[in-house]
Amino acid sequence: KVVNVVLSGGVGSRLWPLSRKSKPKQYLPLFDGRSLFELSIERNITYCDEICIVGGIDNYQLSREIMQKMKVKRYTELVEACPRNTAAAIAFAAFAADPDDVLLITPSDHLIQVDEDYRDAVLQAIQMASDGHIVTFGLKPKHAETGFGYIEHDGNEVISFREKPSEDLAQIFLESGKFLWNSGMFCFKASVFLEELEKYEPVVYEKSKRVFFKRNGIYMNDLMSREIPSISVDYAVMERTEKIKVIPSYFSWSDMGSFQAIFDAAPADDQRKINTNMVLNSSKLVEFVGVENVILVETDDAILVLHKEKAQDVKKVYERLELEN
Ligand code: GDD
Ligand code: MG
Repeated sequence: KVVNVVLSGGVGSRLWPLSRKSKPKQYLPLFDGRSLFELSIERNITYCDEICIVGGIDNYQLSREIMQKMKVKRYTELVEACPRNTAAAIAFAAFAADPDDVLLITPSDHLIQVDEDYRDAVLQAIQMASDGHIVTFGLKPKHAETGFGYIEHDGNEVISFREKPSEDLAQIFLESGKFLWNSGMFCFKASVFLEELEKYEPVVYEKSKRVFFKRNGIYMNDLMSREIPSISVDYAVMERTEKIKVIPSYFSWSDMGSFQAIFDAAPADDQRKINTNMVLNSSKLVEFVGVENVILVETDDAILVLHKEKAQDVKKVYERLELEN
């Protein structure tokens, strides 16, 4: 069978103060009243027999509410005691699955246009995964982004996978024309993934396995959780495995990681946009005088005034506030 593994463990720190630990960004109804989590489930449910949500103790209720609202019955939830990054999160899902199951791993916080290109890419990925490959989806890079993985390729063959390069390297990759952005979605058989994880990150493999089987995936509230090395699947497996393939893809995709991305994804006539500025979530009248590229975000207890080009730095505010509390 095909299982859609939905990764929903991130806190979305770059979207503070909208995104909070108690309500991370993927659950915010920012898109015509719907959340990215909901859109992601809707987008993938047609290709999959089952859904497996991997998320944290802080947000599994939010996932459940959406699944109930959407009347999805065939799903399981694996609840992590603490976030140990995506290698471990995917390992939990792979342990929960049958070895021959094909897992379609999807983040829950991306905005993707559902069209033929998307469908073709996903169907091809499921096919290639059944043949034993670890499949990535590659998108044409638009700028020298340092927050993504880059896939050097020749057709479906991957020459190298380079996670989060420096600015200089990202620029070189962009100009070479040989690299694609890693979409953050993956497709592989559960057994194939676990073999590769065991080979390249045996400690993540062993500890995730022990935590998972002790608790059977439910409330993996175990001290050993904290000992699982925190490493993303990109570094742990994708940069190293020889089973990797890529599907050059053409669907429209954006990682809704920052306020800049929300600004870019909103249509020009979006009422929240005022020239080069934007107001999010405020019920007040807001006027901008003599400033450009400013995003103002208001919540009950906080206001953020942000220069659009510094959108990545919101994470620092979040981290500082976390430390203070
Ligand atoms: N359950 C769980 N537990 N989910 C997690 C955890 C965790 O500990 N950590 C992250 N996630 C979820 C996030 O919520 C997100 O949906 C997804 O896993 C990816 O994590 P990110 O932290 O957003 O990764 P990234 O954006 O830095 O990089 C990845 O995505 C890029 C595209 O958006 C990489 O795969 C890059 O190569 C890729 O280009
Ligand atoms: Mg991301």
